[in-house]
Amino acid sequence: MSSHNQVNYLSEQDIQGLSCYQINHPLFSATVSKFGGQLLNFSGKDQQPLIWLSPLAVTDGSKAIRGGSPICWPWFGAAPEAYKGESQHGYARNTYWQLEQLQQSSAQCTLTLVPTEPEFFHQKFGLAVKLIYQFAEDAKVSVETTNIGQQDFTLTAAIHSYFNLVDVGQISIPELNQHSYFDKLLNASARQEQPLQINQAIDRIYHYQKPELSLCSNADRLRLKHSGHDSIVVWNPWQQDAKAMSDFPDLGYQSMLCVEAAITQGLILKPGETHLLSQAFSRDQRFK
Ligand code: BG6
Repeated sequence: MSSHNQVNYLSEQDIQGLSCYQINHPLFSATVSKFGGQLLNFSGKDQQPLIWLSPLAVTDGSKAIRGGSPICWPWFGAAPEAYKGESQHGYARNTYWQLEQLQQSSAQCTLTLVPTEPEFFHQKFGLAVKLIYQFAEDAKVSVETTNIGQQDFTLTAAIHSYFNLVDVGQISIPELNQHSYFDKLLNASARQEQPLQINQAIDRIYHYQKPELSLCSNADRLRLKHSGHDSIVVWNPWQQDAKAMSDFPDLGYQSMLCVEAAITQGLILKPGETHLLSQAFSRDQRFK
């Protein structure tokens, strides 16, 4: 662990029963859970929280944390054929992580986390993985995957961020207009013909490779940047599915939206290759 500054912004705290890294910095505050290696909170100075965390999240390590910014890795969605029957969204969000490196200054903090038992991933998948959190006025989450095995690995993954919104019903995502998507609820492909608005259950994989997106309403303006992705996933369970989830408040769907930087098409990682998937987010300064 290294630190290039005398001032230490990092402490360890229990949040809702979860052991976490807490960073209280003049420019932001952020919380990363060791279970899941998962961002639970991020707020720029004097700003509303960017990330939504379910007040009903299970926090005893028996189940992935509902909310925050879970990492789906080394697969997104249902397990691939070779791992049939294993957990949806892979292993990272149910794994314990520890700090490998810390860099902090008056301008930023960067935390690098590695699994507490990396051998499991080496042996099972031939992969090494790091989660890199770069916090300044905005937050950037990265998943670094390296194939340290002898065979190709077909990677899918997502940075599954739950964004905290005043009213999801007012949100639009203009950049997705005219992009094709796969609708998981209808099991059909379609094209976004109107600016996307969120007013019903949504579970779509947009084939959107550009770096930037915005979530816009009169009350919220969030800027998202992505790299290393081939898709953007948009998910909100809406009323009926929210009620069916024991770790999700009945009305919680009104103030959150998942917008995920994802690899859904299968990225072939050859032995020795490294891939970086990233999502960065900030609130527009006019919307504190
Ligand atoms: C989204 C998927 O990424 O995650 C949805 O596209 C899924 O299909 C949602 O329902 C939540 O998944 P989970 O496993 O956290 O309940």
